[in-house]
Amino acid sequence: MGLLWIIIGIIIVILMITIPVVISKKETADITKLSTVTTKTTKMTTHELTTTVANPTTQVQSKPKYKKWKQHGITIAGGNGGGDQLNQLFFPSAISIDDKKAIVIVDYHNHRIVEWKYKSNNGEVIVGVNEEGNSLNRLVNPIDVVLDKEKNAIIICDTGNKRVVRLFRQSQTNPQILISNISCNGVAIDKDGSVYVSDWMRLDVRRWKEGDTDGTLIAGGNGQGSHLNQFNYPGSVFVDEDYSVYISDQQNHRIMKWKKDAQEGIIVAGGNGRGDHLNQLVQPYAVIIDNLDQMIIADCGNHRVMSWREGDINGSIVIGVNGYGDESNRLNSPKDVSFDVDGNLYVADTFNSRIQKYELCPE
Ligand SMILES: *[C@@H]1O[C@H](CO)[C@@H](O)[C@H](O)[C@H]1NC(C)=O
Ligand SMILES: *[C@@H]1O[C@H](CO)[C@@H](O)[C@H](O)[C@H]1NC(C)=O
Repeated sequence: MGLLWIIIGIIIVILMITIPVVISKKETADITKLSTVTTKTTKMTTHELTTTVANPTTQVQSKPKYKKWKQHGITIAGGNGGGDQLNQLFFPSAISIDDKKAIVIVDYHNHRIVEWKYKSNNGEVIVGVNEEGNSLNRLVNPIDVVLDKEKNAIIICDTGNKRVVRLFRQSQTNPQILISNISCNGVAIDKDGSVYVSDWMRLDVRRWKEGDTDGTLIAGGNGQGSHLNQFNYPGSVFVDEDYSVYISDQQNHRIMKWKKDAQEGIIVAGGNGRGDHLNQLVQPYAVIIDNLDQMIIADCGNHRVMSWREGDINGSIVIGVNGYGDESNRLNSPKDVSFDVDGNLYVADTFNSRIQKYELCPE
């Protein structure tokens, strides 16, 4: 009996010694963990603080006012004289480039749409048969094209047939008529997939959502003229992220911007009469906006491409030198401009029957 009590006593003593040791070890471990976390947090905060402080300066310094492209272009489609062979184009009037750098080209005078795959020496005919016609696989003097990347479709202004048609790129079927009885002169798509079309007869721009039978008036529709709510031959159209619509108002030699739900437009480029000063344009055919919010304009009648920022009096010449020509730094009546995914600039050099590529200059 006495022995049992001694054993119990020893066990109690052992427990009394070990328990506090275990607990204190655990506490030490927790403290170590905590202190690591604290160090990490301090580090992160310091890091975040440094970046927050550093960012505004770097952004201001590294964001160039204008992007620059090489002055000499490379011919990447056509350039073999005006003609109807597969390595030729005849007055290409518009281009659109997909994410694989395939170029969809409106081959105006050949009444066809051709696609030149990246680095290809030939085009493939997608729609049209080199002859005019109004059956669904024929086009008459197509003017403009836009890619619907979401639906993988090509939307075409089949101007001579007074209709807008759509072709799904994967299918082997004929194009379908999207809009009829329209004097289509330019086509664009917004981020929701709505289609915008300029009509040179009605002097307006309207928008169609999928399934709409009638278009909604977006700009113009107030007759021919040079007031802010009018056009004089509306051409190509571009829609930005905020649903503002940019329209090349060709015979007013200006670019108009109509904000969403606006009753009149704003002159954002040109509008100072016909001429070749830096504040003027001559029959601008196309306008696009790059990711630095600068407009790139095909200043067709001046055989040059200009960049312009809203609010600036002057634009600056991006491509082209005085007068037209077919050298690599000259253009002849450029009618469209486009970018590829890397920001290289492409120009439909219409009267030279070629598509030129200008590489983006490294900053
Ligand atoms: C076609 O549109 C014009 C207006 O541009 C209109 O006067 C005419 O009635 C329309 N024709 C048809 C068949 O809808
Ligand atoms: C605009 O360009 C002209 C030359 O065409 C120049 O004389 C003028 O100073 C420029 N104006 C501005 C505000 O840059």
